[in-house]
Amino acid sequence: MLDELRATALAELAAVANDAAAEEYRLKYLSKKGVLRSVLKGLGELPEDQRRIVGARANDLREEIERKFDGAPWRSAPVSQSSGSFDYSLPGLAFPRGSLHPLQRIRNEIRDIFISMGFDVSYGPEVESDYYNFEALNTPRHHPARDMQDTFYISPEVVLRTHTSPVQVRVMESMKPPIRSIMPGRVYRNEEISARSYCLFHQVEGLYIDENVSFADLKGTLLAFARRFFFDKAEIKIRPSFFPFTEPSVEVDVRCFLCKGNGCPICKQSGWLEVLGAGMVHPNVLKAGNIDAERYTGFAFGMGIERIALLKYGIDDIRLFFENDVRFLRQF
Ligand code: DAH
Repeated sequence: MLDELRATALAELAAVANDAAAEEYRLKYLSKKGVLRSVLKGLGELPEDQRRIVGARANDLREEIERKFDGAPWRSAPVSQSSGSFDYSLPGLAFPRGSLHPLQRIRNEIRDIFISMGFDVSYGPEVESDYYNFEALNTPRHHPARDMQDTFYISPEVVLRTHTSPVQVRVMESMKPPIRSIMPGRVYRNEEISARSYCLFHQVEGLYIDENVSFADLKGTLLAFARRFFFDKAEIKIRPSFFPFTEPSVEVDVRCFLCKGNGCPICKQSGWLEVLGAGMVHPNVLKAGNIDAERYTGFAFGMGIERIALLKYGIDDIRLFFENDVRFLRQF
């Protein structure tokens, strides 16, 4: 009887040519209720001495048919786990995907907008000389403006840069106008750590130097940036300010992108958010960068990435950016 069964099973297997037929075959012969297992179930009715012999043969037959089914030619890969082969059709393991840190996202967005306006990207050292961080930026020793930035001194001549502005001077020294560059990076300040301030943060500096660069170019560039970065109809407000390395100097506010100027807690009901410092590059700074201050003019600006990220994502504690708690980071 088993010989007959074997012959039919093999003949039918040879006729299987596609997946649908294979499934039908599998149900008929190999599934739990299939023919080959029914034979084993029927063993109980046989006398004791025959049961072992027939049982062993039936098992051999089931294994043989299973093996031949798995290795059948219409298959590109074996399927059954039970026969010891690998099931290529099982879903794979899902690997958790990482994501960019929110500060990096903001930095990339800012960078891409300025690159599209013809700027390139430059970098400078985080451990900086007093000369580039202050002196070359028209901020000599004993200048009261040094108090605006609490500085980490490594030695009397070497500091952790307090802003990205020193990269401006390095760029001027190494390039000839026209210069259009943005300079992202880390900066350090010796400040009490709180929800509002941290001992390190990130800035993006911008610099444009050419003949006839005017304040109107600064305004136009920053407005174009605000409209790409914040929202289409963003407006900017320019207020007079002071920085030693620009003259005139300004601070720039953008119409609050959350309430569109109607007043909300983020803009403290003012309708405006302060986003950056800027101005026309001071002739002394051009001279420090070996640029002919009679022939060329330029504008510069600097913005804090954390500040913009806090505003954009509605986060209320700057320390979250530096703790690397994945529960926080996963949200971006
Ligand atoms: N360096 C300034 C700061 O850290 C920001 C800044 C203001 C940069 C005016 C500039 C600028 O380039 O022109 O507060």
